[in-house]
Amino acid sequence: MSTNTHTDIPAAAEGSEPGPAPDSPANPADSAADPTTTPPHIRSFVHRRSHITPGQKEALDRLMPLWALPYRATPLDLQRTFGRDAPTILEIGFGMGETTEAIAATRPGDNFLGVEVFNSGVGALLKRIEASGLQNIRIVQHDAVEVVRDMLAPQSLAGVHIYFPDPWPKARHHKRRLVQPPFIELLASRLAPGGYIHCATDWENYAQQMLAVLQGEPSLCNTCEGYAPRPEYRPQTKFETRGLRLGHGVWDLIFTRKN
Ligand SMILES: C[S@@+](CC[C@H](N)C(=O)[O-])C[C@H]1O[C@@H](n2cnc3c(N)ncnc32)[C@H](O)[C@@H]1O
Repeated sequence: MSTNTHTDIPAAAEGSEPGPAPDSPANPADSAADPTTTPPHIRSFVHRRSHITPGQKEALDRLMPLWALPYRATPLDLQRTFGRDAPTILEIGFGMGETTEAIAATRPGDNFLGVEVFNSGVGALLKRIEASGLQNIRIVQHDAVEVVRDMLAPQSLAGVHIYFPDPWPKARHHKRRLVQPPFIELLASRLAPGGYIHCATDWENYAQQMLAVLQGEPSLCNTCEGYAPRPEYRPQTKFETRGLRLGHGVWDLIFTRKN
């Protein structure tokens, strides 16, 4: 079902340049996006080979057809995708899926669409779905920018989670950061009125950028003055634990779409 070949592993890597990827829409065989009308964007990740466990590989081979949807340049019917009509939350860059599983378990009334490019992360979340028996998670293994642009209809989402996105700390790499004005404008257009965008980061400089970008999007409204307290539904991730150990702070931001 998936077009992914499970060979190239994407990951954020300082100093390395992105190479061609089998699931990249730069490859016309893998995308229906029209390159003459769709401006290219700078990717927030780079592809490189990295370790995948036999269990993750086996999960990719066996469970992708059950829980993952291939990238397509046509909007998803979310009711059909999840087999029910329920609020849908998009999670961008779920990593190894710990947070996705934890939140989906505590919010059984919501649907969770997880988007990730990293093979071992997708394999790990597939294993978690099988082990937990959760029915409210679906996965798309593809660049989230293109998934939001092409697969999600306007006003179709109840919420968006972006937890600890790659910080790209060097100034010359800031252009790779996911939270940028054009992408947030696009994301906000996919939110139903009252829907939320929840970001978290342990990089102060990125937190400041997130605040400026989210505040600058006219269709969004901050739920707090500045940063938000961590809501109970978001568990502490390993990235967060690591950041706290390094003496970094953690900043949550929760904005809602105006009516
Ligand atoms: C630093 S990790 C954080 C993982 C997880 N959210 C957590 O808190 O543990 C960022 C993740 O975002 C993924 N990612 C980066 N850009 C992406 C994109 N454009 N589309 C989908 N996933 C992306 C990376 O592959 C990586 O797994």
